[in-house]
Amino acid sequence: MTKNRKILMLPGDGIGPEVMHEVARMIEWMNDRRGTAFDIQEGLVGGAAYDEHGTSLTDEIMADAMAADAVLFGSVGGPKWDNAPREERPENGLLRLRKEMDLFANLRPATVFDALADASTLKPEVVSGLDLMIVRELTAGVYFGAPRGTDMLPDGTRRGFDTEVYTEPEIQRVASVAFELARKRSNKVHSVEKANVMESGVFWREIVTALHKAEYSDVELHHMYADNCAMQLVRNPKQFDVIVTSNLFGDILSDCAAMLTGSLGMLPSASLGAPNAEGQRKALYEPVHGSAPDIAGQRLANPVAMMLSYAMMLRYSFDMKTEADLIEQAVKNVLASGLRTADIVQEKATRVSTDVMGDAVLREMGTLSA
Ligand code: IPM
Ligand code: MG
Repeated sequence: MTKNRKILMLPGDGIGPEVMHEVARMIEWMNDRRGTAFDIQEGLVGGAAYDEHGTSLTDEIMADAMAADAVLFGSVGGPKWDNAPREERPENGLLRLRKEMDLFANLRPATVFDALADASTLKPEVVSGLDLMIVRELTAGVYFGAPRGTDMLPDGTRRGFDTEVYTEPEIQRVASVAFELARKRSNKVHSVEKANVMESGVFWREIVTALHKAEYSDVELHHMYADNCAMQLVRNPKQFDVIVTSNLFGDILSDCAAMLTGSLGMLPSASLGAPNAEGQRKALYEPVHGSAPDIAGQRLANPVAMMLSYAMMLRYSFDMKTEADLIEQAVKNVLASGLRTADIVQEKATRVSTDVMGDAVLREMGTLSA
């Protein structure tokens, strides 16, 4: 008998626990019906961990994350912790997980479900059929660069500063992920930086160009400035296949790409480390949306991004393509049937709560696999 897989579940704050609850039911269903043999361990992260332990991530949970086969993450943060000490802000729990697990490649796919083409704020013809992938560098750049801080200048005024810094290997490894992905998709990569202004941008472009020439010259490569990329994403998003970019630009551009699909509540993500000798990667899966404290606890949240994050886990960590397809197809069918959570509600659609959406997707999974 093969060993059970260990999944660490970190629901976090705000709507995190609500959307995670729907996925917990899905995992149970998969264990019963598909024999997936996942053992779930739950832990606190973010503000929830701070309230309980005075830190946004305890060393115990960090160790559990290192030992798990995969981590499922909800969302963190909220105004409740605005006055928490800087080092213990809820977001820091997530940043520590990313850094210590060395999850350098953050895959953020933006796909538009047919049923939702007119839920976008953009015209349906601009977004229908959209399928792009943002590969965001996740463990370096200005998020982690030193020096950072605030200090006093000789004239008595203060300043705040951060450092955007990328090493050659940091750029190479994330660009490789993008090129490899592109080969399995439409074979096109846009590398995004601000080489017109930033030294680190010039360097980024140089390294990506060299890697492309040496190992990936079969892939179509374009370079684009980040501001132009933001504009092109709303002008003509279907020109993109894979976008590879830095931590900060990826953060911004992925929110923008997410809205093309109608709602932030639809977008999953996978954060992957380098494969070890056995080919296994450390991995964390989380929705792109945040903790949405304004709607937390009201059963309004859209659980789809969290569900699709779990599907990404099945696909990328466990090679369970059939099961991942099953979830994605069930979501598609439920949306096509007209059920909508508040964030994507449309005329003639039926507005449902988080748990009713969860019920519907589970039921559809049953129907599809009957
Ligand atoms: C994201 C979020 C995080 C980030 C926050 C919560 C730290 O916005 O995952 O996109 O900035 O990376
Ligand atoms: Mg973000």
